[in-house]
Amino acid sequence: MSTESTHLTIFFFSIIFISTFEPSISIAASSPKFPCSGPRYSSFPFCNTSLPITSRARSLVHLLRLHEKISLLSDNASAVPRLGIPAYEWWSESLHGIATNGPGVSFNGSIPSATSFPQVILMAAAFNRSLWSSVGSAIAIEARAMYNHGQAGLTFWAPNINIFRDPRWGRGQETPGEDPMLASAFAIEYVTGFQGRNGEELMVSACCKHFTAYDLEKWQKFSRYSFDAVVTEQDLVDTYQPPFQSCIQEGKASCLMCSYNRVNGVPACARQDMLEKVRSEWGFEGYITSDCDAVATVYEYQKYSKTPEDAVADVLKAGTDINCGTYLLRHTRSALKQGKVSEKDIDRALYNLFSVQLRLGLFDGDPRKGKFGKLGPQNVCTEEHRALALEAAKQGIVLLKNKDKFLPLNKNNVKSLAVIGPMADDRDHIGGGYTGIPCNPRSLFEELRGCVQNTTFFAGCNDVPCDSKDRFSEAVLAAKEAEVVIVVAGLDMTQEREDHDRVSLLLPGKQMDLVSSVASVSKKRIILVLTGGGPLDVTFAENNPWISSILWIGYPGEAGGKAFAEVLFGDFNPGGRLPMTWYPESFTRVPMSDMNMRADLSRGYPGRTYRFYNGDRIYGFGHGLSYTSFTYKFLSAPKKLSLLRSFKGLSNRSRVLEETQGINYVYTDEVEYCESLRFPVQISVMNAGDAGGAHVVMLFSRAPRSTGGFPKKQLIGFDRVHTVPFQHTETSILVDPCNHLSVTDESGKRVLLIGEHVLILGDLEHSVSIETY
Ligand SMILES: *[C@@H]1O[C@H](CO)[C@@H](O)[C@H](O)[C@H]1NC(C)=O
Ligand SMILES: *[C@@H]1O[C@H](CO)[C@@H](O)[C@H](O)[C@H]1NC(C)=O
Ligand SMILES: *[C@@H]1O[C@H](CO)[C@@H](O)[C@H](O)[C@H]1NC(C)=O
Ligand SMILES: *[C@@H]1O[C@H](CO)[C@@H](O)[C@H](O)[C@H]1NC(C)=O
Ligand SMILES: *[C@@H]1O[C@H](CO)[C@@H](O)[C@H](O)[C@H]1NC(C)=O
Ligand SMILES: *[C@@H]1O[C@H](CO)[C@@H](O)[C@H](O)[C@H]1NC(C)=O
Repeated sequence: MSTESTHLTIFFFSIIFISTFEPSISIAASSPKFPCSGPRYSSFPFCNTSLPITSRARSLVHLLRLHEKISLLSDNASAVPRLGIPAYEWWSESLHGIATNGPGVSFNGSIPSATSFPQVILMAAAFNRSLWSSVGSAIAIEARAMYNHGQAGLTFWAPNINIFRDPRWGRGQETPGEDPMLASAFAIEYVTGFQGRNGEELMVSACCKHFTAYDLEKWQKFSRYSFDAVVTEQDLVDTYQPPFQSCIQEGKASCLMCSYNRVNGVPACARQDMLEKVRSEWGFEGYITSDCDAVATVYEYQKYSKTPEDAVADVLKAGTDINCGTYLLRHTRSALKQGKVSEKDIDRALYNLFSVQLRLGLFDGDPRKGKFGKLGPQNVCTEEHRALALEAAKQGIVLLKNKDKFLPLNKNNVKSLAVIGPMADDRDHIGGGYTGIPCNPRSLFEELRGCVQNTTFFAGCNDVPCDSKDRFSEAVLAAKEAEVVIVVAGLDMTQEREDHDRVSLLLPGKQMDLVSSVASVSKKRIILVLTGGGPLDVTFAENNPWISSILWIGYPGEAGGKAFAEVLFGDFNPGGRLPMTWYPESFTRVPMSDMNMRADLSRGYPGRTYRFYNGDRIYGFGHGLSYTSFTYKFLSAPKKLSLLRSFKGLSNRSRVLEETQGINYVYTDEVEYCESLRFPVQISVMNAGDAGGAHVVMLFSRAPRSTGGFPKKQLIGFDRVHTVPFQHTETSILVDPCNHLSVTDESGKRVLLIGEHVLILGDLEHSVSIETY
C-alpha cells in the first residue's frame, strides 16, 4: 500500500484529470450506521441470519442496481441508502498491531492507542508458533474493539508473507523472513489467531499479501509499480508460492491481495491462471483485492492493457474482486458499454465481497449487540496485551556475538552506563513500518536508566543517516568515562521502508566510525545493538576485539526497551534466531531485479537465501546464541523408508524416467500413500550450561543430490522449547517425506529422490535412505 509515494500522487492527478466521473448519487439522510439495523431494513432476505451465507450474498447481489454495484468495487465502498447499507472502508491495517496506514483506522476517538507488537521480522526470529497465534488473537480483540467504536473496519490487510529474497528490500522487515516453511508457519498462526477458528464465522478478516513474487520497491530503473518479476516455475513452486498456499489452505484466510508487479509479463492482478488456481486448488473462499491502485497501474504505468477499460476487464475477468483505489469506480461502466466486461463478472466480485462481510457479521444489525459487541476501550492496551508485546520482543531478540560470555551484565555491579547512538532514545520509529499509536512506548535509554541510575545518553550522530561527525566528541567522551558502554546503531525508516530499498548493507553514513571510535576509547569492551529489519554487513564489529557482544533487536515495538534491558541483565536468556541470511556488502553487486533463487555460477550469480546461496555470509539463517549452550541427540528416526515399486502409486511416467535416464525419483503426487510414510523424529536437547531458557530446535533435510537446482538444505520443522540447566528436554518433529524430503524439479513438480536423505540438527546428521522394492 502506498501512503507516502509522491510518485504515485503525481500520477493520480494525471488520471483524475483525464477521467470522466459518473454523476454523483444522492445519499439519503436516513442511512443507518449498520446494515440490517432498524425495522425498515431488517426484513430483507440478506438480513435473515437463518439463511446460509451463500443465499444471503446472492440475494443482496440481485437487489442491487448497476450503478450501485459499480460503486461497491472500491475500498471506499459507497452507501446503498435504498437498502440501508452504509458506506464501508475495506482498507484497515494490522501488521503488528492496529496501524495508521489504512484510511479505515482512526485513533481519534475513545481508543487513542493500540498495542504495538514488534515488527514481524523480529517476531519470526522467535520461532514460536503459539506466540504468533497469541499475537494474532490479541490484535483481533483490539481490532474488534476499535470497530465497535467506529475507529476501524473489520477487513485488515495483513500479513505480508512475501519471501525476504533480497537483503536490500525495504519491506523485508514486514515479513517472516527468507524461508518458505517459516513464512508458511507464521502465516497459518497469525491468520488463524486473528480470524478465529470458528469455521465460517470471522472475528476479523486477514489478507495474505502480496500475491505474488513481490519483493522489490525501487532499484535502479525498476519500480514495484511496473517491475516484471521473471520467475521460473521451479522457484515459484518451492519458494514464492508456499506461504500463500499455506495462508489460504491451512490458515483459511478470507482475503488475498494481488501485487503491483507483473509475473512473467502479466500483471499479478490479471494473472487469471494463478488467481483461479487459488480458488480451485487451494480452496480459497474470500475476496481478492488489488494492492492500492494496482488496477490503474495495469494501464497507466505498465501499458499492459490498451485502454483503461481493458485494464478493468483484465483484472475482473482474472478474478480480482475489488480495487483499492478508484479505477474500477471510474472505468467499469464504460468497460460494460464496450462489452469488455459483463454484469456477471461484477456479480461474481460482489458475491465474494458480501460473503466475507456476512461472515464478519456486518449484516447482522448493530454489532454491539453481537458476539463481540462488548469489546471496547477496556480491551485495548490491556496489561495482558502489553505483556505479550514484551514477551514477543524478548523472544525475538538475537544474540549475534558474545565473546568470553561478556553478557549478561550483573545489574548490581554496573556503576555507570553510557548509551550512545541515534536510535537509543527513540520511541517513534522503534516499531518500523505499519505502526499505529502505541500504548506506552519507551526508548532503550529510558528503560536502561531505570536499571542503572547513572546512565547517560549521547546520540553521537544527528540521526540514523549520520552524515556528520559533529557530535562524535561528546559521545566519545562519555564512552571514555563510563564503566559500561552500549552503542545502538543500525537502521530506521529513513533507510528501509515501503517504496524505498537500500543500496548498501553497511551501517548508514558514519555510524561505523562512531562505533569504532567509541570502542577504541572505552574502558571495557563495548556492546553493539543493531536495529532494523534488513541484514547488515557488520564484519568490522564481528572482527573488532573491543566489541564483545552484538545483539539484533529488529524493530522491537513499544516494549522493545524493556525487552532489551531484560536480555542485557540476564533476566531473560535470548533464544531468537535469524530468519534471514546476513550477506556481505559485496552481495549488492547482484542485480536486485534477478528473481532467480538458484545459483548460476556460469554467470557469477551466487543464488539467494541459505537454501541456494553459495557466497560468504556474515551470519547464517538460524544463527543465534544463548547464555547457555545446547547439544542434541537424535533419539529416534528411521534409517530406511521403502516405497513399494510395484504399487499403484508409481506411474509409468516415473518408472520410464527411472529406467531410461537412470534418474531415481518418483513424483510425489503419484505416491498414493504419502501419509503412511510420515514419521516422528524424536530429539533430545541438552542444556549444557547453568542458565535456563528457551531454545529453538531447527530440523533441516538434504536431498541425495544437490544438482538439478535442489536446495543445499531446507528447513522441515522447528520447535521452541523450554530448557532447564544441565537437563535434557525432549521434543518431536513430524516429518512428512512427500512434503519435507521432496524437492522441486525444473518443471515445478515435486519429486522424491531415491537414495540417502540426511536430517540435520545443528552439527548432527542422520541418514534416512529411501528405497524402492
Ligand atoms: C428467515 O429464513 C427462514 C428460513 O428460510 C424463514 O423460515 C424465516 O421466515 C425467515 N425470516 C424472515 C423474517 O423472513
Ligand atoms: C469515499 O467515497 C465517498 C462517496 O461515497 C466520497 O464522498 C469520499 O470523499 C470518499 N473518500 C475518500 C477518502 O476517497
Ligand atoms: C477528531 O475528532 C473530532 C470530533 O469528531 C474533530 O473535531 C477533530 O477535528 C478530529 N481530529 C483529528 C486530528 O482528526
Ligand atoms: C556517573 O558516571 C560517570 C562516568 O560515566 C562519573 O564520572 C560520574 O561521577 C558518575 N556520577 C555519579 C553521581 O555517580
Ligand atoms: C504402464 O506400463 C505397463 C507395463 O509396462 C503397461 O502394461 C501399461 O499399459 C502402462 N500403462 C499406461 C497407462 O501407459
Ligand atoms: C512461546 O510463546 C508463548 C506465548 O508468548 C509463551 O507462553 C511460551 O513460553 C513460548 N515458548 C517458549 C519455549 O519460549
